[in-house]
Amino acid sequence: MTIFSAHSTLFTRASVSLLSSNGLKRFSFASSFSSSTALHSPPLRKTKKRRFPIVSAVDIGGVTIARNDVVRDDDPTNNVPDSIFSKLGMQLHRRDQHPIGILKNAIYNYFESNYTKKFETFEDLSPIVTTKQNFDDVLVPADHVSRSLNDTYYVDSQTVLRCHTSAHQAELLREGHRRFLVTGDVYRRDSIDATHYPVFHQMEGFCVFSPEDWNQSGKDSTLYAAEDLKKCLEGLARHLFGAVEMRWVDTYFPFTEPSFELEIYFKEDWLEVLGCGVTEQRILKQSGLENNVAWAFGLGLERLAMVLFDIPDIRLFWSDDERFTSQFGKGELGVKFKPFSKYPPCYKDISFWISESFTENNFCEVVRGIAGDLVEEVKLIDSFTNKKGMTSHCYRIVFRSMERSLTDEEVNDLQSKVRDEVQRKLNVELR
Ligand code: DAH
Repeated sequence: MTIFSAHSTLFTRASVSLLSSNGLKRFSFASSFSSSTALHSPPLRKTKKRRFPIVSAVDIGGVTIARNDVVRDDDPTNNVPDSIFSKLGMQLHRRDQHPIGILKNAIYNYFESNYTKKFETFEDLSPIVTTKQNFDDVLVPADHVSRSLNDTYYVDSQTVLRCHTSAHQAELLREGHRRFLVTGDVYRRDSIDATHYPVFHQMEGFCVFSPEDWNQSGKDSTLYAAEDLKKCLEGLARHLFGAVEMRWVDTYFPFTEPSFELEIYFKEDWLEVLGCGVTEQRILKQSGLENNVAWAFGLGLERLAMVLFDIPDIRLFWSDDERFTSQFGKGELGVKFKPFSKYPPCYKDISFWISESFTENNFCEVVRGIAGDLVEEVKLIDSFTNKKGMTSHCYRIVFRSMERSLTDEEVNDLQSKVRDEVQRKLNVELR
């Protein structure tokens, strides 16, 4: 396990058992208090505007998607907020001067120079997919935590915002593609901190082999694919990180057997770079490829870009502040980000009695819905159950802008909206 997060792979076995995402996974015993360090910040322009404009339609690869088809108050299954809808057409991975785009291009270059013209690239497949594509086609078990409304954004009971690029494996195989890289924005409801954001980017790699490939080698097909996979990905890691120490860790994914994670030793810690494995035969069989073997991998672009470019907070990727955007140029992998300033944080605590249906992700969603990118972290700092069996949670919310100092008035206003909305939407009792 590494301490660096930024969306490590979701589908390992450990996540199967995290079924009760009730906020207790990041426990802390600090006592509750309320403070504000924004007291001395200079008064800035008053912003009464919404944190995110309500966007009425987005364009994804030339297709217009209307807000009302994705954000639906009339469907109890729908849990897509406007803040998420507005991200749908952004496609940071297609910006050549953005760290995410620069990293994607560097990976493309690796594949192009080592496997010339062998891998097709896809980067504007719609992130709105069916539950069949996102889960069933890649054998995600019926009771897997990722299927819950708490973890995934549902448009309706059969449509989701993809939570991984693996959602496209089966359809591309069925269409006849055999070696491909799929890059795209993926969506996950999650807690809030410097390495988690509900939208991030992944790249999926897939490579199918035929019997003649492994027959010549004299190896069994699975071993052949696993060795080829490891060689390919070790080369990729060296291409991105230089001569680093690496190790393979056995793991579990529903779609591969055997499954591995690649870790590199970076800045005195083991960093998980990607998840991968030899594709389950059932997935190939669904596409009429029962005589073949394949490997697949999935990697999170933010996670790697944060390390390669020294980007300290995942929200920065979404900033259009010139002081951020002007630091990166096409093809310049690994230029170190120079922080323009660290504006003061402002801490606010909120305590309430939770109900049975309470989850930390739902709480974070409310906070994000109000504060947008002004919220840096939400931490459970105290939890106890009284004699009557009622459980109280105290959360510390860290407000901080990447771009300016926040005023007390503004933060108080945000906090009071959080208090109102938490009560109204989450069925909790404020203390
Ligand atoms: N889809 C996985 C995730 O998001 C990542 C992954 C792991 C993709 C292994 C793969 C794979 O194709 O073989 O957690």
